[in-house]
Amino acid sequence: MPNVSIPALDEVIYLGPDETLLSGLYKAGYSYTVGCKRGGCGICKVDVLDGDFSYNRPIAATVISAEERTDGTCLSCRAVPDSDVTIQMRDDEMRLVNPFLRQINEKARRRAEALAAGTDMEQ
Ligand code: FES
Repeated sequence: MPNVSIPALDEVIYLGPDETLLSGLYKAGYSYTVGCKRGGCGICKVDVLDGDFSYNRPIAATVISAEERTDGTCLSCRAVPDSDVTIQMRDDEMRLVNPFLRQINEKARRRAEALAAGTDMEQ
């Protein structure tokens, strides 16, 4: 499953199958600016610096320009990573609001990495 690296926060977030970037951020205890959650307003944009993503549900054609479709601009509420991705947030509104969820996400990420490597993970 893909990991989302956020260098500005020195954070790596684990996403489940077909999970959107925004869902993963919330699941890991972070808040971020959000509006419609349906690909229609564009307020949730982040920049994907590395890695691939796709939209498995429709987004409004007017929300992302032709240039943005090729420069890594991403609607986090609809984008599902196809690989590990590195992202950069567009404002300072992202903050950790639930450290407990962050710990759960970190453990899930380490467990997935151990499974992928074929090693056991100590509890
Ligand atoms: S929250 Fe509106 S496009 Fe993502």
